[in-house]
Amino acid sequence: MQDTTQLNKSKLGTKQYWDDFYAVERKNFKANEEDTGECWFDDNDAEQKMVDFLSDNIEQYSIESGSSMIDLGTGNGHLLFELAENDFAGPMLGVDYSEESVQFANEIAQSRGLSSTITFEQADIFSDDWSPGEFDIVLDKGTLDAIALSGLQIGNKSVVECYSTVVEKLLKDGGVFLITSCNFTQEELTKIIETDNLKVWETVDYPVFEFGGVKGTPICTIAFVKGVL
Ligand SMILES: C[S@@+](CC[C@H](N)C(=O)[O-])C[C@H]1O[C@@H](n2cnc3c(N)ncnc32)[C@H](O)[C@@H]1O
Repeated sequence: MQDTTQLNKSKLGTKQYWDDFYAVERKNFKANEEDTGECWFDDNDAEQKMVDFLSDNIEQYSIESGSSMIDLGTGNGHLLFELAENDFAGPMLGVDYSEESVQFANEIAQSRGLSSTITFEQADIFSDDWSPGEFDIVLDKGTLDAIALSGLQIGNKSVVECYSTVVEKLLKDGGVFLITSCNFTQEELTKIIETDNLKVWETVDYPVFEFGGVKGTPICTIAFVKGVL
């Protein structure tokens, strides 16, 4: 049977694409500080759903208003800014391998007076010498989707197969991993992420569409918990 967790390569899986993308967004922001760039999956209200999920589940597992958080492939950092504006006050780190993204997110943080609470760092999350420590909450909005389009391998494994090891390393025991994807179904995402130590806890609902007799959602958000289920 075909392995549907391996996607075809695309330019969206290259660092060059994201550097160029965020260079343009930085220019737009310089011209107009209201323009903080693309909010991925805005049509599906995904960012709001992720923020609401965490707000609605305060005191579940590691979720507290003071939880430490890391956002993988943070882009313009919008998700972290939104969380900070929704009373999450713990230390937040946004990481992205695009220097342009990190500079852009820092510029937005400065303009919003949030640079003391939210830090942005340039790193490839698969790099062996990147070890930012452990966090209560790990976030991903659209980043695994981009990673899956890179077609890259680490040793004899695809980066998609290596992804859950990265997430596990970054999570404290009892920590929560919240991910939104538009390229994978719930079943595929579960297959990619779940390990003996990282299990599905909850899924977030989206409107269901029916086409040609097949029902589905164009996007999914899943919360996983490390070590306790
Ligand atoms: C679809 S964008 C999503 C950006 C952001 N999460 C959002 O929702 O707006 C994917 C992001 O992942 C970043 N990225 C892709 N591969 C990465 C890697 N190996 N390490 C760090 N960041 C990566 C890209 O630079 C880009 O910012």
